[in-house]
Amino acid sequence: MTCFSSADESAHYGFSVCMLLEQYRTQLRWEEQGVVELGTGDATAIADVVAALPGLRVRSFDISAPSVETARANIAARGVADRYTVELGDFFDQADSAFGPPVSTVISNPPYIPAPDGDILMPELWGGVHGNDLVLRLFKAGYDNVVAAVASYSDPLETVRTAGDLGYRVVNFLAMGLDYGTYSSEPKVRDHIRRLCAEGRGWAGDDGYMVAIALFTRDPDLPGDRGDQLLRALQV
Ligand SMILES: C[S@@+](CC[C@H](N)C(=O)[O-])C[C@H]1O[C@@H](n2cnc3c(N)ncnc32)[C@H](O)[C@@H]1O
Repeated sequence: MTCFSSADESAHYGFSVCMLLEQYRTQLRWEEQGVVELGTGDATAIADVVAALPGLRVRSFDISAPSVETARANIAARGVADRYTVELGDFFDQADSAFGPPVSTVISNPPYIPAPDGDILMPELWGGVHGNDLVLRLFKAGYDNVVAAVASYSDPLETVRTAGDLGYRVVNFLAMGLDYGTYSSEPKVRDHIRRLCAEGRGWAGDDGYMVAIALFTRDPDLPGDRGDQLLRALQV
């Protein structure tokens, strides 16, 4: 087991979460409730967000023990351990029981590597056959607001449609082109991505792909319906 490492992607995730939390500060109610996070990784991205937003508290979970160890050290080094906590375990096991007061917003750069099975470089990053299993589970977990990474090769059309079927709209998003990294370059994964794109389940270029960090909501007080724009930004 290793710790997820992809500096550009983590920076994109952190910057975008910060922008969306700032822009929708009142509606996401994070000053009152805090937020929860699926998948801490090394924690650097969100530790910087916590440092930048003094009222923010984040309760995070990761199934990777080395990630949790690295994350705790990085959080302590940035001086935000009182507002950014990390627990070892499956987010969905904890989410049912342990959250106490209601939390309406979950943030995540979830595992989205598509592959025929989980026998890949870092199995914790397997997102199922189409890559979107974890984000779909987040929509079914009952949060009003889901701020999550959506990759262009992980069947974004199915992701947006399923979100819509469950009552979510895309309020806004930030999209960025990323080069293939260590995990998506693994030959077994690259071949699978090519097959998925040929089947119309996403887009990937020769050198890279797109990732958007999108705010999905089912809160009627939060306007916006940018699902079509999101899919266009992801080249779908
Ligand atoms: C793509 S990485 C993102 C890490 C970090 N948020 C970042 O963007 O740098 C996804 C993380 O989710 C963790 N993970 C996978 N499944 C999980 C689950 N069911 N519950 C909690 N964490 C999970 C992985 O171990 C991995 O660290």
